[in-house]
Amino acid sequence: MSNHVTIYEVGPRDGLQNEKALISTKDKIQLVNDLTACGFQKIEVTSFVSPKWVPQMADALEVLEGIDRVKGVTYSALTPNLKGFDRAQHARADEVAIFAAATEGFSKANINCSIDESLTRFEPVVKAAKDAGISVRGCVSVITDCPYDGLVDPTSVVHVAKALADMGCHEVGLADTIGAATPEKIEIVLDAVLQELPVGLLSGHYHDTNGRALENIEVSLEKGIRLFDSAIGGLGGCPYAPGATGNVATEAVVDRVTKLGYNTGLNFEKLLDVAVFARGLSG
Ligand code: HMG
Ligand code: MG
Repeated sequence: MSNHVTIYEVGPRDGLQNEKALISTKDKIQLVNDLTACGFQKIEVTSFVSPKWVPQMADALEVLEGIDRVKGVTYSALTPNLKGFDRAQHARADEVAIFAAATEGFSKANINCSIDESLTRFEPVVKAAKDAGISVRGCVSVITDCPYDGLVDPTSVVHVAKALADMGCHEVGLADTIGAATPEKIEIVLDAVLQELPVGLLSGHYHDTNGRALENIEVSLEKGIRLFDSAIGGLGGCPYAPGATGNVATEAVVDRVTKLGYNTGLNFEKLLDVAVFARGLSG
């Protein structure tokens, strides 16, 4: 099994979306350019969501159009619906992400519809993306614990993950949105998902509220997952996940997986500098 771990840097999106004070478009562009210089192959730059819901992401178009692109790097954005996809396509996103939830409570709070409605809403997004030659990653939020519905039934995670894969997502991310998962819970849900989907399709997206995200990554590595989302400086959270803190910090993931014998291809010294810049953007 490969000893290469790919880090999908989501700091410019997941990291910044939760910041109350508006960050300048120029600083957001600088952050993405600095991350590119660290050697990331995949960067989630922004989200084309409703600016009424997440004002911090209102400049998505300007940010995605303003970055210096490096050949071979995938610059992606979240798109909750066709309107978001159209905007992302206009801004030349290389990849888009659709995001569903494993619980009705989180689905309603985050994207204002039921799980089934969200899946129906994503179908034309995937079709439009395929027609445009843009790849689509899917994400399942709240895979173990939900701030609204409590403990999550892995069956529901499997159902949504499989629906996203069947729709045509080339990758399905499994997210501990509120950072309440433990390695034991992650193992249970991964075992359930792996009954239905190949490991090469999966990625992990773990928030670090309770300081267990690195252990959750370790158990995921043991299961064969080699792709993880993380946010530089450990910034972030979701405006619709009360109390949850940021994604696991990219620099901490790189340090841990390197010590475990994996390589990431990233420049660690540069990462530490960018983490300082990123934290400076955060209130
Ligand atoms: P809604 O209010 O039900 O939608 O929101 P609507 O269709 O009724 O539209 C309301 C208004 O928003 C309309 O404008 C639309 O045009 C506009 P108005 O007519 O009132 O002036 N609108 C849009 N504008 C720009 N771009 C769009 C768009 N869509 C509608 N794409 C909606 C439904 C999905 C839009 C809303 O709930 C939303 O934007 N939600 C996103 C919330 C969000 O960004 N959450 C954080 C990201 S997810 C996350 O962090 C989890 C993740 O990290 C994994 C994990 O950790 O779990 C990925
Ligand atoms: Mg997240």
